[in-house]
Amino acid sequence: VKGGFATFMDKEIHDQPKAVADTLLGRTDGQGNLVLDELRIDEAVLRSVDKIVVIACGTAAYAGHVAKYAVEHWCRIPVEVELAHEFRYRDPVVTEKTLVVAVSQSGETMDTLMAVRHAREQGAKVLAVVNTHGSTIARESDAVLYTHAGPEIAVASTKAFLAQITACYLLGLYLAQLRGNKYADEVAGYLEELGKLPEKIQSVIDGEEVVREVARSMADATSVLFLGRHVGYPVAMEGALKLKELAYIHAEGFAAGELKHGPIALIDEGQPVFIVVPTPRRPTLHAKVVSNIQEVRARGARTLVIAEEGDEAVTEFADVVFRVPRTPTLMMPLVTVVPLQIFACALATAKGLDVDQPRNLAKSVTVE
Ligand code: F6R
Repeated sequence: VKGGFATFMDKEIHDQPKAVADTLLGRTDGQGNLVLDELRIDEAVLRSVDKIVVIACGTAAYAGHVAKYAVEHWCRIPVEVELAHEFRYRDPVVTEKTLVVAVSQSGETMDTLMAVRHAREQGAKVLAVVNTHGSTIARESDAVLYTHAGPEIAVASTKAFLAQITACYLLGLYLAQLRGNKYADEVAGYLEELGKLPEKIQSVIDGEEVVREVARSMADATSVLFLGRHVGYPVAMEGALKLKELAYIHAEGFAAGELKHGPIALIDEGQPVFIVVPTPRRPTLHAKVVSNIQEVRARGARTLVIAEEGDEAVTEFADVVFRVPRTPTLMMPLVTVVPLQIFACALATAKGLDVDQPRNLAKSVTVE
């Protein structure tokens, strides 16, 4: 069942190119148009949507956070991302023109289910991005866009996360196509780029030994920080979550720009800091993050940098560089998160921990 891997976690990390490819499969007409027949929400309703609210928990919420950047850019529809358990207990503004997108691997997370029910009671349409067929959230939503990651056994989510992000890209591109905005003509190009991602993810996995070696050398770490900007920000938070869950190490993900507003006080001699660097093809964004690397390095941090191949600007300030292939900015999370997953898994393994069944956690959280 583990396909020759030591743990389900290892297997599922290696399943990721397929999870993304399968989630893309069969969703185009062969001429570069998206066909999402499964979105059984009236097209007129989808055209009239004036706000999207993504509700989810944990890793699924970080996928929603990535979706916000992509969907707002392609569709010009405001997107809010909210933790399902917070959404429900305040008084959210939800109308018939709100599309609520519930993201869940299991489709059974009680917090997310309750938020789905709440949104529907307010008259919103709910679209579920779910991995498990026939699950409660899938059944109770107006429509389902399935991720095709296959069963995820390890408690900590990996391949479902990549599949969730992929499905959210499809949703964003579909809405752009449907609403005929200025990105409608670029859908085919984006789909082509998405089609190249499985191979790129595979190339990151092929370089895993470098990450594992660094992880093994850090088995004594007591705190690790993660910085990212733009779509690198949710990736930083996901990297921190993986490390907390799997290796029981204190970890925190920050928006890199937030550093000077407080967190930089944490930086001390030897403090490990991961930095997720955007592509140098976005020079202003890139330069900001490179200067953040410099800032933490100058205060003694050990910098572990995730950067695009050919990005030489980072090398001077990086103690370690993990390379990812050149990828369109909005799609970078599909490659940049992979070294962070491998790192957390390898570090936990080095500490002799059970990576498939971390303490105190359950695969689906069916209580509120
Ligand atoms: C983290 C993790 C959790 C889940 C969260 C939502 O590795 O697995 O944070 O992402 O509990 O679960 P689903 O997606 O099943 O609703």
